[in-house]
Amino acid sequence: MALEKIEISPAKTFRGEFTPPPDKSISHRAVILSSLAKGKGIVKNFLRAKDTESTMNAFRALGVEIMDEGDTLTIYGKGLYGLSEPAGVIDCGNSGTTIRLISGVLSGSPFFSVLTGDDSLRTRPMGRVIAPLSRMGAEIMARSENRYPPVAIKGAELRPLRYTMPVASAQVKSSLLLAGLYCMETSEITEPTKSRDHTERMLPAFGADLRVEGLKVTVKGGRELSPMETEVPGDFSSAAFFIVAALLVPGSEIICRNVGINPTRTGLLEALKLMGAKVEMINPRTISGEPVADIHCGGKAALKAVHLTEEIIPSLIDEFPVLCVAAAAAEGFTTVRGASELRVKESDRIKAMASELGKMGVKIEEYPDGIGINGTAGMKGTEVESHGDHRIAMAMAVAALAAEGTTSIYGASVVDISFPTFFASLRGLSS
Ligand code: S3P
Repeated sequence: MALEKIEISPAKTFRGEFTPPPDKSISHRAVILSSLAKGKGIVKNFLRAKDTESTMNAFRALGVEIMDEGDTLTIYGKGLYGLSEPAGVIDCGNSGTTIRLISGVLSGSPFFSVLTGDDSLRTRPMGRVIAPLSRMGAEIMARSENRYPPVAIKGAELRPLRYTMPVASAQVKSSLLLAGLYCMETSEITEPTKSRDHTERMLPAFGADLRVEGLKVTVKGGRELSPMETEVPGDFSSAAFFIVAALLVPGSEIICRNVGINPTRTGLLEALKLMGAKVEMINPRTISGEPVADIHCGGKAALKAVHLTEEIIPSLIDEFPVLCVAAAAAEGFTTVRGASELRVKESDRIKAMASELGKMGVKIEEYPDGIGINGTAGMKGTEVESHGDHRIAMAMAVAALAAEGTTSIYGASVVDISFPTFFASLRGLSS
């Protein structure tokens, strides 16, 4: 959908049932592991969006046949050593997950490949995967002294790695675990704080020898993966915009169906509960090894400010923009610290939220590692920008629903990265 500007008026109520799109992180991983397994795998409820299409296209370029029937994919996996050298440069678009996870796979693949992406991806740090993958024996080079894409990789026979990650990052952890599949001995990866664990849940289901002990994950490679059928649950990170909208618009009540509630992803719910929100999980169940529930919430309690520090940040890393919006509508001064990772996402999300909420009249303090938000004054509709970042565009749409007067969001079509039907779904519940 080409949509340069969208106008949003305040909502009187926000009510109804909503099913979020399939989880983006799990969709990427389902394509990657099915491509590396030997034989026919199925991915059901696959996310159709630009980021996950980048992963699909990358594996097609590596010789994997993927039959595409809407939200079901049939993938004829080539086995760990069956990928072929791509004839051209692989374009990972806007997707950090694609470029970082595939770097791990290509480090163990015995050929030459080059990965690049859009203007935003070419400013995202790659040193965090290049340094440990080089220690495993891969030859990797990147622009600007090995910092940014494009990245050129010559795969090799890999050595095991024992590595303590300096930052909590599921993309780095997953990249190293995928490289570990190519290594006969055991690799050991330790993270400073737990990041999303979808790779650790999914790899053993495909037959990998992987163990988790607190913050340490070990993987022993040299074993082919077996194909399977994976069903992707709904994306909590997409549902998050609707949950916050329902808490900010008075008299609202929504049910979000089929949402992944993996505890490494749902830090926003803990933060919102500390702010005084009532959010209820109904009908808990498990889909493809992931906890899932329906989420019921509504605008019954006035939100209060909260103070968040680094331990909780990895579990709400993608929810920071919409959390800022909740803080802007809460009573008192909210602080989020220990969150400098937010500066190296699809945009500098601390700067972007400070700038855009500032335009709506919210008093903000920006810190190198976080933000301070004074929610007491309320938000006023005006012209705001997406900064080319899907989560900023969606967070500002939620702010617009709870503001006084109309808001115009420029660069709104960027929602196609993770949630192409976002504005239609939002309109469906607003009145
Ligand atoms: C993701 C991990 C997180 C998250 C990103 C998706 C993943 O990034 O922000 O949207 O699928 O592994 P980091 O690993 O850089 O924290």
